[in-house]
Amino acid sequence: MARITAGVGCSHVPAIGVAMDTGITDQPYWKPVFDGFVKSREWMKENQPDVIFLVYNDHCTAFDASCIPTFALGCAAEFAPADEGWGPRPVPVVKGHQKLASHIAQSVILDEFDLTIMNEMEVDHGLTVPLSVMFGETGVDDAWPCPVIPLAVNVVQYPAPTGNRCYNLGKAIRRAIDSYPEDLNVMIFGTGGMSHQLQAERAGLINAEWDRRFLDMMANDPEAARRIEHVEYLRETGSEGIEMVMWLVMRGALDEKVTEVHRHYHVPASNTAVGHIILENHS
Ligand code: DHB
Ligand code: FE
Repeated sequence: MARITAGVGCSHVPAIGVAMDTGITDQPYWKPVFDGFVKSREWMKENQPDVIFLVYNDHCTAFDASCIPTFALGCAAEFAPADEGWGPRPVPVVKGHQKLASHIAQSVILDEFDLTIMNEMEVDHGLTVPLSVMFGETGVDDAWPCPVIPLAVNVVQYPAPTGNRCYNLGKAIRRAIDSYPEDLNVMIFGTGGMSHQLQAERAGLINAEWDRRFLDMMANDPEAARRIEHVEYLRETGSEGIEMVMWLVMRGALDEKVTEVHRHYHVPASNTAVGHIILENHS
């Protein structure tokens, strides 16, 4: 049977992708950011997923204001990196896993979570930057080491789903993957965050103390994390801190008790704090 072996929480700051694409990761500003992912890349090589289920948000790239799905599951054969204004990132096209994605769509929708099925979708920095930081430099003519199933969550236009809804969706995704007959090592990524606000009076807000508490909760107290309300994310972590509800999908798909393998927290990267955690399942 397929099984979820681990969860990865990871910021998706677009400037991290630019730093990799332009070869400046050794510069003093960026080195501490990337040093924190050395162990993660080794761990990825040792644990080689067959498929990654990647929870991220689209930043008005694949979707615009005409259509805003709350949860959109990527069921296509492949997903091209989007042009976000400066041309697409020079990274490989992302290959999907259509059989597993269709199985997840059927299982989760019949489990009463109404997903939007995407048979065509471009993917932005929200998806490609976490792949880059976890796998290292991957040229446009290379291939990503494994297929990826994207799940795009609306955190761009009010109302985003609650953290609790995301956590329960993670549990439904776990049930779906657990019931897939092929032996597959599946990892789940929750991306976005940490605290950041990109606009208006509080632009530049970072709340390191709150972020570190959130990482603690991801490791040891998911029941507390699922109860964090929108207003707390907004007040304590800025308007874009709401991206952290996507980590709850990842956490809901794991065992209640997990092993923390690695953690990294650094301020700043662009306008945000970089947060990262690797959690292994026991079952
Ligand atoms: C930044 C961070 C994000 O998560 C994002 O989607 C866009 C920009 C930033 O810090 O610049
Ligand atoms: Fe973002």
